[in-house]
Amino acid sequence: MKYNKNHKEFLKQKVENNWTWEKTAEAFNKKFNTDQTKADLMQLNRRSIKEKNIKKIKSENVKEIEKMKFEKLKKDDKIYSSVLVISDMHHPYSHPDTLSFLTELNKKHKFDKIVCIGDEIDNHAISFHDSNPDLPSAGDELKQAIKALEPFYKLFPKVDVIESNHGSLVYRKALNSGLPLAVFKSYNEVLEAPKDWKWVFDLKINTPMGEVYFCHGKTGSSGRLAQSYGMSCIQGHFHEKAQITYISTPNKIMYDMHVGCLADDKSLALGYNKINPKRPVVSVGIIINGIPQIVPMILKKGGRWNGCL
Ligand SMILES: [Fe+2]
Repeated sequence: MKYNKNHKEFLKQKVENNWTWEKTAEAFNKKFNTDQTKADLMQLNRRSIKEKNIKKIKSENVKEIEKMKFEKLKKDDKIYSSVLVISDMHHPYSHPDTLSFLTELNKKHKFDKIVCIGDEIDNHAISFHDSNPDLPSAGDELKQAIKALEPFYKLFPKVDVIESNHGSLVYRKALNSGLPLAVFKSYNEVLEAPKDWKWVFDLKINTPMGEVYFCHGKTGSSGRLAQSYGMSCIQGHFHEKAQITYISTPNKIMYDMHVGCLADDKSLALGYNKINPKRPVVSVGIIINGIPQIVPMILKKGGRWNGCL
């Protein structure tokens, strides 16, 4: 028999009237003119409870995932005067001097806001593109990425991380495989990150020179995003692009900044970019008293940082 909502609803009367299953079957058959046994109705009851629980779990998970993946930061009235924008690190395939570079930069500027512009991890082994068989497996790569991130968790306990194409690969793969939301873990759980590392789709903050919008990478065209959004904009994603374009209107001046990357150009994981004549610029963005700057990591012969800021 095909049951409908009314049939499932009727079963509530069993509990309300403290009926036995025999009595419930008798009342059910009388009401709907059917011929159901108590076993049929017990099975229907089990199925209804299961459906209800799945619905509840799904709705709780959807809320959690939306919060985790898509919630924009609440309006933050604070005006930040010293902001660090950590560019694409691609752990565990980051430049070997990333930690010392950021440590020294933080000593110099004492940042009051840290934004990681995305691609904090590479996820090479689970890429939608070909993976290099000479690199670690997905499990080993994740372990290495977490280990590499740990000192950054200590150095910067509070970070807003922008959702990105590499960083979100685990979720994109899961969705692509048809996995339900119930199996998802949060970014913090996957990467063993502290609770104040918060992943957001995009972000807007206040600086002394006005609002600044952050996203991982919507356009490599200089100045276009700031013109579209009507405010200063900062992006990562375009590794070979580290530049600032100012745009002036009758009302205000704003800028568009691409922050380069902190990935290791020598890594096999970044091999897909080898044919590009433009090489990655190892650099980060900072905003001091509202003024954006690119800080390049100046490399010695051999590719290591020369230690100068
Ligand atoms: Fe990247």
